Amino acid sequence: MENLMTPEGSYKANTYNLEFEQEIQRLKAQVLLSWEKEARTLKWFGLADKMNVLEAGSGPGFFTEKLLELLPKSSITAVEIDPSLHEKAVDYLQDKGGDRVNRIQMSIANTGLDDNTFDFAIARLLFVHLPEPVAAAREIFRILKPGGKLVIVDSDADLFWLTTPPMSVEIVREKFKQVMSSRGGDLSVGRNLCRILQEAGFGSIDLEAVVSHSDIIGIEAFEPLLDSGPILQLVKQGLISESEIASYLVSRDEFFAAGDRLMMSFWLMACGEKINRNLA
Ligand SMILES: C[S@@+](CC[C@H](N)C(=O)[O-])C[C@H]1O[C@@H](n2cnc3c(N)ncnc32)[C@H](O)[C@@H]1O
Repeated sequence: MENLMTPEGSYKANTYNLEFEQEIQRLKAQVLLSWEKEARTLKWFGLADKMNVLEAGSGPGFFTEKLLELLPKSSITAVEIDPSLHEKAVDYLQDKGGDRVNRIQMSIANTGLDDNTFDFAIARLLFVHLPEPVAAAREIFRILKPGGKLVIVDSDADLFWLTTPPMSVEIVREKFKQVMSSRGGDLSVGRNLCRILQEAGFGSIDLEAVVSHSDIIGIEAFEPLLDSGPILQLVKQGLISESEIASYLVSRDEFFAAGDRLMMSFWLMACGEKINRNLA
């Protein structure tokens, strides 16, 4: 069995799903699901074109692509720790954004970037995986300009999604919580986002929710998120037994067979500002 006490965090693209490409497609669907609502909330928090933007934990580049389209005169610096995802992003973005996109393979905990560089920072589905989230938020605070903002997008284990017919997720969710926590992550990070920002020194903290519903955007947008690969991967790793996931898989099949099925998901978006003390 693997060493569960690895300090790097709870996400490894190569082992999170059954296949690397399957994981890339899951990440893509997760970006497409709620991009428009996330974009409008980011703008409401103050994101604007021409800003110098940091994207932390940028993965294969699908969210970076959306930012480049939303902000045609901005520069985006995408920081990603995982070499395989970094390479994937380099390929995917090579004909998108030109010199407006700067990809850095580095941990967000220690970027080596200059103080007071960015107007706005976004960390999407990253903090859930970080063993030291406050240290990471402090590093982002350091490289933001005074008055700059950080928006953390994440969810919380007790909020993720609701379905009709309901799925039997309790055992699987508890197991995921345990595995993530043993790897340094926190599946319940959503409820802690305001405190993480506060402890890192941010002020003017605010919190919004982005709600997606299949009656509005169609059930097809949600179905890739129900990829059972990550759960089957836990079985393969000996971290959950086939009997423990049996009722989940039955309820998942029943969900897919139901003509009137619906699904609703919740992302949280927490925003903090690097208050300009000279002006305060
Ligand atoms: C669930 S993925 C989300 C990717 C992307 N933000 C998105 O919304 O599709 C989490 C990403 O954070 C990256 N990551 C994890 N720990 C990191 C760290 N310490 N520094 C930078 N990136 C990190 C992972 O490799 C992965 O690409």
